[in-house]
Amino acid sequence: MLLNLFAIVAFAALVAAADKLENCELHPKIEERILRDTAAWGDAGITEDLVLSVSKHCETEQRIRQHHCNCQPQRILIENGTVYLNNLIPWHRLGPHEHIGLLVELYEASQVYKLPNVEFTYWLDDHPPGEANYILGGAGPHGAPRATAWPYEPKGGLPPMVAWSKHADNGVLMVPYSGAFRCAKDSFDALEASLHEISGVAWADKLPIGFGRWNGFCTYYYGMGLVRTADGQPVPCPRIYLNNVSAAHPDLLVAFDLGVAKPVPLAHQNRYKYIVSTDGWSISSKFDKYLLLGSTVFKAASIRDGFYYDALEPNVHFIPFMVKHKDDIVDAIQWARAHDDEARSMAGAAREFARKHLSRPARLCYLFRLLTHLSKQYKYPVSCSRRKLCVPVVHELRYYAQNEKTNETCPYHEVFDKYAAADTLASPDAARLQEISNMHLEPLHWPRDDL
Ligand SMILES: *[C@@H]1O[C@H](CO)[C@@H](O)[C@H](O)[C@H]1NC(C)=O
Ligand SMILES: *[C@@H]1O[C@H](CO)[C@@H](O)[C@H](O)[C@H]1NC(C)=O
Ligand SMILES: *[C@@H]1O[C@H](CO)[C@@H](O)[C@H](O)[C@H]1NC(C)=O
Repeated sequence: MLLNLFAIVAFAALVAAADKLENCELHPKIEERILRDTAAWGDAGITEDLVLSVSKHCETEQRIRQHHCNCQPQRILIENGTVYLNNLIPWHRLGPHEHIGLLVELYEASQVYKLPNVEFTYWLDDHPPGEANYILGGAGPHGAPRATAWPYEPKGGLPPMVAWSKHADNGVLMVPYSGAFRCAKDSFDALEASLHEISGVAWADKLPIGFGRWNGFCTYYYGMGLVRTADGQPVPCPRIYLNNVSAAHPDLLVAFDLGVAKPVPLAHQNRYKYIVSTDGWSISSKFDKYLLLGSTVFKAASIRDGFYYDALEPNVHFIPFMVKHKDDIVDAIQWARAHDDEARSMAGAAREFARKHLSRPARLCYLFRLLTHLSKQYKYPVSCSRRKLCVPVVHELRYYAQNEKTNETCPYHEVFDKYAAADTLASPDAARLQEISNMHLEPLHWPRDDL
């Protein structure tokens, strides 16, 4: 009898595992980017000391208390298809969808795909850590092809880290800005679900004017000469400078910061033929959504990439500006007006691209492919048995769903409704949730696996 029961349980587990996908296809350019970025470790591969060196970031109690350094690295380990967390972010820093969105998306990816064993850190910031920048000359530790600015032992190494934007000189791996894709009320997924409504404005009825609206601030890479136009000049801060260009060309451009003009909801911006996109602190999560609007997207020059940017083609999916000189958006809009069919087909190509490569199933496929390539780099057996803490991410999400700081960050019920029945870990009891809550309240909770 007992044996039979065991057989039934084992069979159920087999069926559940067999149901998970083991293959999917990405845009070749996106796949190529993953291959290039995960090749960073060369034959040396990813060693355990590299992974654990992230703990050095939070070496002393003083650093934890004064710099809240344990708020930036979210360590993640995947074993036997289950996603675990190796540290918990302190309670006072919980809330932002930038953090939680990726955890929800990884959980969903683990339910749809058979994820390989991997271990990495999600760096919680608009900017990937400067410590992961490559420096000129020299190989990394253990014979890795390139050295970074990583200051902890092994110095010059590259712990596997993910972030949602980076510039070419940084070694982190890119993941979707999942919070903006799936959590916010005006998320990409929500916008995509209401496409039939926003498609209501016919191209001919849209105003042939460039529209832009944003908070007026400037990120560090503008104005400093890190982004330059073809004439050699530094690109000015687009979010401030476009106020001036708009004032000088009111018939072409109404791209203003919110200190100057009123906000307009995203779903109403499709009344304009041309939508202007600028970086915020980093890449704009609105850019992804603009691609869906059925308008031609104009994108300011930047040195930052998102996970799919390699596959986007300028003048096919969007029109770049601040490329020739700082005022070239004026020429670009005049060009679009004079080439209405081409502008229209770019708007269509952008929407088609977004639906095919940025939709939720495409993002889950991306995570699967990224982690699959990453998993080939490890030189030690990745396992929770080697870690001091391994909290199943679904326990953490259950905790978020009932915590006042996080319960409205993301619609968790979407994943619970869909996957909890088949996931034996998905229903922790009240005592377990209390235990997790206590760990979040302990400011020094930063398990030092490197010791
Ligand atoms: C993963 O599977 C292996 C082999 O069955 C097992 O030894 C290990 O304990 C499992 N790990 C976890 C975290 O369940
Ligand atoms: C924008 O216009 C304001 C007001 O005319 C002017 O003071 C400022 O220098 C201009 N900024 C740039 C970057 O040209
Ligand atoms: C989140 O928690 C607050 C406070 O307990 C509650 O008022 C609100 O209704 C909750 N929201 C959701 C979506 O559960």
